[in-house]
Amino acid sequence: MAEPLNISLIGGGTVGGGVAQILLQHPERIATRAGRPVHIKRVVVRDPHKPRPTIPKELVSTDIAAAIRDPQVHVVVELMGGTGLAKQVVLDSLAAGKHVVTANKALLAEHGPEIFEAARKHERSVGFEASVAGGIPIIRALAESLAGNQITAIQGILNGTSNFILTAMADRGVSYSDALAEAQRLGYAEADPTLDVDGSDAAHKLAILVQIAFGVTVPVNEIERFGIAGLNAMDLRFAHELGYTIKLLAEAWLDGKEVALHVAPVLLRRTDMLAQVRGAFNAVQVVGDAVGEIMFQGAGAGALPTASSVVADIIDLAVGRAQRTFQAMKLWAPHELGFRQRPSEGVRSRFFLRVLVQDKSGMLADVARVLADQGISIASVIQHEAVEEHQGDVVPLVIMTHYAETGRFRSAVSKINSLTGVVPPGVFYSVDD
Ligand SMILES: NC(=O)c1ccc[n+]([C@@H]2O[C@H](COP(=O)([O-])OP(=O)(O)OC[C@H]3O[C@@H](n4cnc5c(N)ncnc54)[C@H](OP(=O)(O)O)[C@@H]3O)[C@@H](O)[C@H]2O)c1
Repeated sequence: MAEPLNISLIGGGTVGGGVAQILLQHPERIATRAGRPVHIKRVVVRDPHKPRPTIPKELVSTDIAAAIRDPQVHVVVELMGGTGLAKQVVLDSLAAGKHVVTANKALLAEHGPEIFEAARKHERSVGFEASVAGGIPIIRALAESLAGNQITAIQGILNGTSNFILTAMADRGVSYSDALAEAQRLGYAEADPTLDVDGSDAAHKLAILVQIAFGVTVPVNEIERFGIAGLNAMDLRFAHELGYTIKLLAEAWLDGKEVALHVAPVLLRRTDMLAQVRGAFNAVQVVGDAVGEIMFQGAGAGALPTASSVVADIIDLAVGRAQRTFQAMKLWAPHELGFRQRPSEGVRSRFFLRVLVQDKSGMLADVARVLADQGISIASVIQHEAVEEHQGDVVPLVIMTHYAETGRFRSAVSKINSLTGVVPPGVFYSVDD
């Protein structure tokens, strides 16, 4: 058989442990698919004394430089996380003539241009299938399998923690804080869940998808994001009453030469395929001009699902495919698709608006007048009696609008917030129909 492909794993934690498990438990299967054996030469960690059931002790060290420099190593697999040292590991590896595989979405979203330019300069490739939606092969699908299409829309449930919380709230009516505590107890949420629930993690992944699908480089801090922290259970109840549920979506769609994108909780019809994605699962729905609508669903995290994607990238390198497709993809390089980002204020959408108002006559008319002044028409209204979250003389007023420009709608909401008899702030979400 051909010469082995040797790899260094930088990181032997959740994902690194999963990669070692697949490569070491199934060497014949991997060698057959790769056309040559794949050997783990080194595994670099912070604490060499930690027990690691899937990693042989003699492979473990703390010497990053040696793992990169080793002349027998062909591929460096970065699975340490973070954007500081990890960036240096990737750049040093490319400079040392190694190919790189990484699962690090934050690193690519923030430093993609520099990393991919270095890869092209050194004629090496960077595999990153695991960086978006864990075990779902969405990078390859967009970059290779759907290469004959112009992608026109992407909608993703890209954060399992948020989807777990929203599913628990929708199914069992529990509060946001109880659902988050449950997610933490079951290991679906970190002790500090901020990046998951504020939409940042999904924004990192969206930046990568938008790069592949539309050739647009969007600095991750320019992706408008709204998270689910503090989402009120009553809004899920009202959404259900109207035939919708609420999902945290990372969305990008083409309108002429512009790409609109955001991460936000969005009302989806309960019959929509994405609305059926429950618990910690991820899903991505893609629309291509030739293929139409397709949907991918599966585990977006976890040791083996994520390692499944990392190992696919390693096998692609062993076969020699990755080197060829990588150069053709021109990622994060200035090229000619010509799309640009649409400012969010100009995006048109339907909206769900819930305001708490004094229980007295004329409030609906006051709110409706402000919307009408901005040219926004109302599709339906629900006015409830007091709900358990707000007793006394305050009642929720729920309005669904027809299509309106986001900028106009937001300015209407800020005027509504200052109306006498309104308890601010009004809460609003866009509605995907
Ligand atoms: N976990 C998932 O389900 C998942 C899914 C998709 C993508 N990812 C991405 O995959 C990457 C790894 O995630 P993970 O969950 O496997 O993380 P993890 O369990 O925390 O593992 C990180 C590994 O890197 C090592 N490490 C960290 N800093 C180091 C340093 N300065 N020097 C040497 N080694 C260092 C750690 O060593 P010790 O073991 O000694 O601490 C550990 O082995 C991240 O970029 C993450 O975003 C993860």
